[in-house]
Amino acid sequence: MQDGRTTLTQFIIEEQRHVAGATGDFSGLLNDIATACKVIANAVSKGALIGLLGNAGGENIQGEVQKKLDVISNDVMIRSNEWAGHLAGMASEEMDDIYPVAGEHVRGKYLLVFDPLDGSSNIDINITVGTIFSILRSPNPGAQAKLDDFLQPGTEQVCAGFALYGPSTLLIITSGHGVNGFTLDREVGEFILTHPGMRIPEDTQEFAINASNERFWEQPVKRYVDECRAGKTGPRGKDFNMRWIASMVAETYRILTRGGVFMYPKDTKDAAKPGRLRLLYEANPVGFIVEQAGGLCSTGLARMLDIRPTALHQRVPLIFGSKNEVERIERYHRELLTAA
Ligand code: AHG
Ligand code: MN
Ligand code: MN
Repeated sequence: MQDGRTTLTQFIIEEQRHVAGATGDFSGLLNDIATACKVIANAVSKGALIGLLGNAGGENIQGEVQKKLDVISNDVMIRSNEWAGHLAGMASEEMDDIYPVAGEHVRGKYLLVFDPLDGSSNIDINITVGTIFSILRSPNPGAQAKLDDFLQPGTEQVCAGFALYGPSTLLIITSGHGVNGFTLDREVGEFILTHPGMRIPEDTQEFAINASNERFWEQPVKRYVDECRAGKTGPRGKDFNMRWIASMVAETYRILTRGGVFMYPKDTKDAAKPGRLRLLYEANPVGFIVEQAGGLCSTGLARMLDIRPTALHQRVPLIFGSKNEVERIERYHRELLTAA
């Protein structure tokens, strides 16, 4: 502890003692991820000064325009994590296929999946973005990773977290023993424990959804949002507030600090897509964190962390946040099924 403050490095070593069978691997991996986030934070904060805003000129596997910082953040995560011998492989929102750790690099026992820059449509308008990561155990430690190795339900995650590049740079992590938040002290270059034991209030008056998609929503979501908008005059008997930042990591942090519910539900806009957000590197890491903070994370019909992935970039309907609100939305989904 330095001058009464707990650094991330110290916290990780203490946390490692909880991870069954952990050696220095787990601590080393988490430190390498934290280093990558510091490098990305630096690039994001310089933006236009070093010509990093704007589009990279291509599309990713998701069919979405890639920002220059999407590509750079992806490269930073790969370079920072491939060399130390902790990983058998990686997968990313920005790469079509898995990235097996190969060649001269020693392979390890973990898999790392990540969204290198979440909310990147906001980067050119200087709104908060972040990096999301999830650590799984490789089924074949030390062997070259295969696609199927990554297709594990969210309950198998060893650790999950996200960095937030906002007014301050934060790192929020869980390894199954609660949720802890760290703030980057840029003068020291260390993440400092500032938000120990984060908890999501079970009730809320705030919901987040992209309301422009209303005509595509399924009935349970439409019912829930209509009731929130009816406020005191409606069945909820209280007024609600709405937020939509279009940066899920920023919405997640708001919900961790003051409660709320986030919905990116299945809608009829594109029958090929059962939702917008991706299971492995968006919904599962956020779901692990939210559950560890006392909230819930659901598809509307099932617990997110129980979903067995069938594809690397699989999309899911995503509803998470304050426990009592997510339970209500799930009830509305069940009532529709039983009414059918
Ligand atoms: P990404 O930038 O990694 O593609 O993720 C963006 C996601 C999520 O962060 C956000 O909640 C959502 O997309 C916003 O979607 P809309 O632009 O459709 O509102
Ligand atoms: Mn994302
Ligand atoms: Mn992204």
